[in-house]
Amino acid sequence: MARLVKIPALVDPHTHLRDLDWAHKATFTSETTAAVAGGYWAVFDMPNTPPTTTDRPALDRKLAALSAGAVCDWGVYFGASQADNTAEYAHVRGTCGLKIFNNSTTGDLLIADQGQRAQHYAAWPGGRVIAVHAEDETVLDILALVREYRKHTHFLHISTAQEIAWLTAAKAEGLPVTIGVCPHHLYLTEDDLPTLGAFGIMKPGLKTATDRDALWAALQSGVVDIVESDHAPHTLAEKQSAKPPYGVPGLETTLPLMLTAVQAGRLTLDRVIDLVATNPRRIWGLTAPAETYALVDLDASYVIDRANLHGACGWSPFEGMSVHGRVLETWIRGTKVWDGEQVLVQPGFGHNLFN
Ligand code: DOR
Ligand code: ZN
Repeated sequence: MARLVKIPALVDPHTHLRDLDWAHKATFTSETTAAVAGGYWAVFDMPNTPPTTTDRPALDRKLAALSAGAVCDWGVYFGASQADNTAEYAHVRGTCGLKIFNNSTTGDLLIADQGQRAQHYAAWPGGRVIAVHAEDETVLDILALVREYRKHTHFLHISTAQEIAWLTAAKAEGLPVTIGVCPHHLYLTEDDLPTLGAFGIMKPGLKTATDRDALWAALQSGVVDIVESDHAPHTLAEKQSAKPPYGVPGLETTLPLMLTAVQAGRLTLDRVIDLVATNPRRIWGLTAPAETYALVDLDASYVIDRANLHGACGWSPFEGMSVHGRVLETWIRGTKVWDGEQVLVQPGFGHNLFN
């Protein structure tokens, strides 16, 4: 039986779309294709792809390439750099926010010094989101800056029970913070690493079953604001190499995995819609254009397989998992952009939502 529903098309504020000097991994066209296949209206791109989005020429190059290549709407983060780029912040235009990497990961944008972090917090214009990679005690370091500067901070890919506890307390204190979690931390644990090998390696890494359960409880209680993919494709050859890079793709599997939680009675459909669509729209101040939705069959059930993925990397850490829920169509601004099999618009259809 098919149960068809229209849900507001999704917004993912946490993706690494590649292209530019990493076009061998993926391109803006290939990964926005994965996005519309996954039911997304818009995706926001992180600044760690070379050339890092940490000065005006690099930002202009990325804006031009996305304008030419994207098949869905999009946003771009500016990145905090160790080489103090704060002088740029006052006149940076066209971005969805600032990204600060406070723990090490793919690329070299790490800001480990608390004094330097404070300079970035002080310089970034108020009213525009700061998105942070912060793990373990670093969450407390960033909360100290939020307390001091009162600038809206979105904590990306939160993965432990302890981090959830600290951020729950920060919300109770009235700090302007929001929380994102990722499907890989909800569905996989460190116990899966022997099977997954390098396909289970990402930052933050997979955690314990206790941590995973705390994330689900925080989804159910309403403490978590967003389910974001942290879509970070690397090629099969790179993942199978002696030194595999951190990161997993997720744009095509996030909605099916969350709809599977609805089918299992773990979350309501309304809650999932808040987590993947309504909340990111609200937090980034976006008004959805008319006729921007995904048509979903809640009852379609299938196994995640390389053959049903459309992004460039061609693999998923969720291969072999049975899911409920298939995106049949994605509509943006009254145009059908995805028909369940292919993209129906030209590269360049997508708009920057932060002009
Ligand atoms: O696993 C990750 N991969 N975590 C990050 O923070 C960055 C990402 C990437 O760009 O590959
Ligand atoms: Zn990321």
